[in-house]
Amino acid sequence: MALPRIAWLPAVLGLLTGLDTPRSHPPATRRAHATRPATQVPEARLIDSLLARMTLEEKLGQLNLVAGVSDTAATADLALVRQGRVGGFLSVFGAGATRTAQRVAVEQSRLGIPLLLGYDVIHGFRTIFPIPLAEASTWDPAAAAATARTAAREAAAAGVNWTFAPMVDIARDPRWGRIAEGSGEDPYLGSLFAAARVQGFQAELGSGTVLATVKHFAAYGAAEGGRDYNTVDLSERTLREIYLPPFRTAVRAGVGSVMTSFNEIGGIPSTANGWLLTNLLRGEWGFRGLVVSDWTAVAELEQHGVAGSRAAAGALALEAGVDMDMQSRSYLETLPALVRAGRLREAMVDEAVRRVLGAKARLGLFADPYRGASPDAERAILLAPATRQLARDVAVEAIVLLKNDRDLLPLTGKLRTVAVLGPLAESKEDPLGPWHGAGRAQDVVTVLRGIQERMGPGTSVRYAAGCDIAGTSTAGFAAAVALARAADVAVLVLGEAAEMSGEAASRSTLDLPGVQEQLLEAVGATGTPVVLGLMNGRPLALPWAAEHAPAILETWFLGVETGHGVADVLFGDVSPSGKLPVTVPRSVGQVPIYYNHKNSGRPPGSEKWTSKYLDLPATPLYPFGWGLSYTRFRYSNLRLSAARLGPADTLRVQVTVTNTGARAATEIVQLYLRQDVGSVTPAVRRLAGFRRLALAPGEGRSVELVLAPEQLGVYGRDMTFAVEPGTYHVFVGPNSVEGLEGRFEISATPPGD
Ligand code: BGC
Repeated sequence: MALPRIAWLPAVLGLLTGLDTPRSHPPATRRAHATRPATQVPEARLIDSLLARMTLEEKLGQLNLVAGVSDTAATADLALVRQGRVGGFLSVFGAGATRTAQRVAVEQSRLGIPLLLGYDVIHGFRTIFPIPLAEASTWDPAAAAATARTAAREAAAAGVNWTFAPMVDIARDPRWGRIAEGSGEDPYLGSLFAAARVQGFQAELGSGTVLATVKHFAAYGAAEGGRDYNTVDLSERTLREIYLPPFRTAVRAGVGSVMTSFNEIGGIPSTANGWLLTNLLRGEWGFRGLVVSDWTAVAELEQHGVAGSRAAAGALALEAGVDMDMQSRSYLETLPALVRAGRLREAMVDEAVRRVLGAKARLGLFADPYRGASPDAERAILLAPATRQLARDVAVEAIVLLKNDRDLLPLTGKLRTVAVLGPLAESKEDPLGPWHGAGRAQDVVTVLRGIQERMGPGTSVRYAAGCDIAGTSTAGFAAAVALARAADVAVLVLGEAAEMSGEAASRSTLDLPGVQEQLLEAVGATGTPVVLGLMNGRPLALPWAAEHAPAILETWFLGVETGHGVADVLFGDVSPSGKLPVTVPRSVGQVPIYYNHKNSGRPPGSEKWTSKYLDLPATPLYPFGWGLSYTRFRYSNLRLSAARLGPADTLRVQVTVTNTGARAATEIVQLYLRQDVGSVTPAVRRLAGFRRLALAPGEGRSVELVLAPEQLGVYGRDMTFAVEPGTYHVFVGPNSVEGLEGRFEISATPPGD
């Protein structure tokens, strides 16, 4: 399906594919990646002159980020704006509310400094697109750039100038509910999506854009036990190899702000971590934008047990490098006394203020605080037909066909009666996902409606919920079973309620909640073919369904166009092309389970003394990268541009992929890399490239994937990123377990030397 492409995206992505720059690269390459200065010269002059005129309270006011109440700035907070004691609001949106707040700031405060107006535009503003985990299933960063761009345009029309997205936390633990908000488990895929979304939101920060925030810095997804906000303890190696790459890439893409995470890492809460926020982010990476805390995270340093008072918490956060205090008012209320007592340097406050003013300048707020927001703009832009079409196209791309026995799908035969069953089939709220901005349930096309529209006149679509999502009653089973019995096919939509994933929504099991699996058993027992449609915000461990349901579509939460997207795939108008951006376990007991693991000294085998469980295979239910199509693809003729290369060389990998079936379809060709022997233990495989390839029936094409030093390098024993000599394997195929295999060697010096 042709999605609108953003012309500048491929060029940008070309710069952003690596984990790091190997040391063999000349310094000029690094400079090319640096973020551009936050302020141009006239802006710097404006900022200097403002700073020179500001009182200490006004300076700390710029660092104070305050939440709105019911989408509007509270009257008491507008009074604070007049006093110059608010730098920005979050969750104030809508042209009316934002214009009012800006007007108070620019017309009624002493210095007339405009406000940052932040909002969580996570996967759409009013037009809700698939959740980020679903978007990652498209393996199409350009699609994510397009949805971010469109979401920014909607948000800007409503006066929002700053988004708290993209969320780029790597998640290896599906119990953690916020896995729904990110791009899954892989640093390479996650980095591409991070860059795409930053570019989509910000473009050149001209009209219809918002400043992006990459969050949550850092390793928030590594919470112990998958329990949100919980302790994180991991090595610098894992941090650099797995959790940091998407942040690093977002910084290279010019992201305007970074949000700290709630968690600690090894005893130091991120919001007080000077190594992370200053040495690494600003020093090593050259980030020049704004650092904002998460919601009340500054004051929470007291709960963490590293600050004895709110004032101490404020000082710790500012000194570590947090410029803006979200919602705890610790900076505003406690730091003036510390500065006056000489316990905190005012120069440090000035630095933070410069960054906040720099962000405002970068957004053009001093020239036009409203940036085109108006009720008319909202009417013209929100939920525009082209935007809904984009939502539908991306929904289609995001669906992953997990199983399709005897080609039950697509539903192409003569169907007279379809039973649409399950507690999520008619839900309008849940398809929006756990964090849906200004989205509304009324905008959602349900699965039931999508199927009804597609089936058309002369056919019968019958619906029964069968049970609730999490309830224990089986009283509705009989009606559902009766409809299934009388139908040609049953489409059963099961899964999680939207609020079962997202923030503060960790689960200790990965089952279908309530009696849903029993409903599947009962419907399956009718003998009518069953298509299981899953709607959920995390991978679910469903071994019984995987064995017994003949066809399974993973749809995640697809947003406003859910029903159309599902129908497009069910009826074969488009062949599914989504691939899993996360590993799906067999059981919660396997967690954490991820594809790019280490081999260990005793990899799982048939012998007792190997790394495995007594009661489960070591393999997942569905591997990373998995996803079927309505056609078949044959991989052949793997060719490498060289059998031996030097440490600064690039390897070109070519493969021929042929559509051997009867339907046009898109395949996502995946390239994985394995270093045989390294200075540190290598991952058994790691994703190092992929390509979307649309093929007509019978068509075969050669694809080229390029492995540059950025993909080949690793962090060695001393944490220096470099390409190490030795032998390597490449695997090119449809997922992380199948594919053709090639071998090459990297010598310490360029071949021929
Ligand atoms: C979340 C952030 C979010 C912020 C503001 C916090 O609870 O962790 O992701 O941006 O609230 O809404």
